[in-house]
Amino acid sequence: MTKEQAHIEIERLKAELWENSRLYYVENAPVISDYDYDQMLKRLEALEDMYPEFRTPDSPSQKVGSDIRKEFVQYPHRYPMLSLQNTYSIGEVEDFAARAQKTLEEGFSYSCELKFDGTSISLNYRNGVLVRALTRGDGVVGDDVTSNARRITNIPLRLKGEGWPDDFEIRGEILMPYTSFDRLNEERADAGEEPFANPRNAASGSLKLLDSAEAGRRGLICTLYHIPGEHGFTSHSQALDAAASWGLPVSDKRKICHSIAEIEEYINYWDTERHTLPFATDGCVIKINELSAQKALGFTSKFPRWAVAYKFKAESVLTELLSIDYQVGRTGAVTPVANLAPVLLSGTTVKRATLNNADQMALLDIRIGDWVYVEKGGEIIPKITGIEESKRSPGSTTVPRFPEVCPDCGTPLVRRENEAKWFCPNEDGCPTQIKGKIVHFLGRKAMNVIAGDATVDQLYAMGFVRTAADLYTLSSEQLLQLDGWKERSVLRFLDSLRESAESTPFEKVLFALGIRYVGETTAKQLARHFGDIDTLAAASEEELRDVADIGDVIARSVYEWFRTPAHIDEIARLKMAGLHFKVDAKEGGSDILQGRTIVISGNFSISRESLKELIERYGGRNSGSVSSKTTYLLAGEKAGPEKLRKAAQLGVEVIDEARFMSMLPEGSAPQAQASKEEDLLLF
Ligand code: IVH
Repeated sequence: MTKEQAHIEIERLKAELWENSRLYYVENAPVISDYDYDQMLKRLEALEDMYPEFRTPDSPSQKVGSDIRKEFVQYPHRYPMLSLQNTYSIGEVEDFAARAQKTLEEGFSYSCELKFDGTSISLNYRNGVLVRALTRGDGVVGDDVTSNARRITNIPLRLKGEGWPDDFEIRGEILMPYTSFDRLNEERADAGEEPFANPRNAASGSLKLLDSAEAGRRGLICTLYHIPGEHGFTSHSQALDAAASWGLPVSDKRKICHSIAEIEEYINYWDTERHTLPFATDGCVIKINELSAQKALGFTSKFPRWAVAYKFKAESVLTELLSIDYQVGRTGAVTPVANLAPVLLSGTTVKRATLNNADQMALLDIRIGDWVYVEKGGEIIPKITGIEESKRSPGSTTVPRFPEVCPDCGTPLVRRENEAKWFCPNEDGCPTQIKGKIVHFLGRKAMNVIAGDATVDQLYAMGFVRTAADLYTLSSEQLLQLDGWKERSVLRFLDSLRESAESTPFEKVLFALGIRYVGETTAKQLARHFGDIDTLAAASEEELRDVADIGDVIARSVYEWFRTPAHIDEIARLKMAGLHFKVDAKEGGSDILQGRTIVISGNFSISRESLKELIERYGGRNSGSVSSKTTYLLAGEKAGPEKLRKAAQLGVEVIDEARFMSMLPEGSAPQAQASKEEDLLLF
């Protein structure tokens, strides 16, 4: 791999990891397994180790994912709220122990615990009273969910016993037991709502409800496992025992171990025994128990060096491979999908599973009729992870052939550099891609028009639509020609189209366009940053990269999309149909900072991410470098001397945090609200 190829691959992995992290933490709806995420992250880390010049501070290898939601007030964590290094083999646990041994001069022990599969929480007790509960957020600031946490029955509002520090934080997990989960999903099904895919998503979604009474009804529980800071304890287990004596919910499934053999025994025991627990666990956590040893080992930017998580393997079953279909997706990617003899896996019957791509098929050397291992990571589409060679019959010689042409339109498939998938390049002529793009356009998170795949199939088959813009020229006469359509359904469809055109904000319209790598968050960021489609369309790749979280791959994809004449034509037609291509000042924020470009430099009382959020929420643009286009340099403590010099040279106004906050509507500043509420809580 050349340096240039590595750079492209790093940017691609970053974009994919960001999107998957958002789906996990913000949407509570992951689409890949934790294992696949970790493998992708490992690959990114390996490439960044090879080419450290491409490692950026915002890389998923450098910072934890963020679950911040703007509906909540954010407060800073007293100590950063980090993640844990994941391992999948006892060998990696041994490596962890060996590394610790090398640094530590004195003997030490291990605290082995369960890894609870929920959503993390940090509780702050002052003078024995619960004053604040924060989610992990981005690790630096978290969402304030105190009123919801107060309704979780096993979280004490007041501590009992004695000896608690005057002011301390204790961290743990919010879980939804299986019984509450089943009940909640039944209720949701009755109400016609989408069920939660697993208890983790349900716990996270429920903790972040704006209605505390409803959050309280969800049957959440808490278990606590970490007290950061120094409070006079000598070991982690001593601190947790003390916490238990103050009435805090601490797990009694902890065990002090002294050797790898004992750790392995603990892991093996819980790998089977966990199925008897009333809530979900996804592994074990092994922590160095002595606090002096923890201190000596310290932290990386993401993890403590004194702990490691061993993740249990996903449940796997054997079944027979009957045939393989090759599916073309909205982006033209061709995915092999296996048809299986039905088999029960983690409570559901599985009949289809993905084989990912041609390389995976070749690697497995798979044959039709093979017995294959199928795995599922909770909510995710099951996948084939291996074959059982001992069950292969001498007759099973049919080696499936990956198609050379698109199964849908017959165009020869191409494989782009650095992509694992084969693609149909006939973007604007391949029926599946055209239909897929229109289905995406109409989808709930995009234009939200009442129409499903079947409608799009019919409209396509009749030759009525070839692009999204064609939807807006459909007549009642045409729609009445569709099989099974009556006047009422025609009216409903046309009404829904009109209503959506009138009410869907620019950011959703932008997402609906289906630009490669532009997911919901990116669309939102682009919309807020550029304000309207014409400014976005005219942006250079460099200007696109100025937007928070947008790297080379997304910038190039957006830039190229707007350089395709058919796309410009499509936008012109959609504009004529009345869709919104401009941020509405009333949406989400206001336009107080409209037209202002702000560069941030130095340290502030809130995270830089939060500052960027505020700038974009109020219609401003955040840029990385000072130029003649800069309106303000927002300078904090230790602001970059180069930036300050450049600002002085160009006559750019330098403002501090207080001045910036004073420009925003009252109540926008998280800190200002913090002190007021603290006072209320204490009296
Ligand atoms: S200790 C400084 N202990 O797993 C690190 N974390 O995948 C403190 N988790 O972010 C965390 N069970 O939310 C710790 N027994 C346990 C845990 C645990 C679950 C969660 C936690 C962490 C995540 C990492």
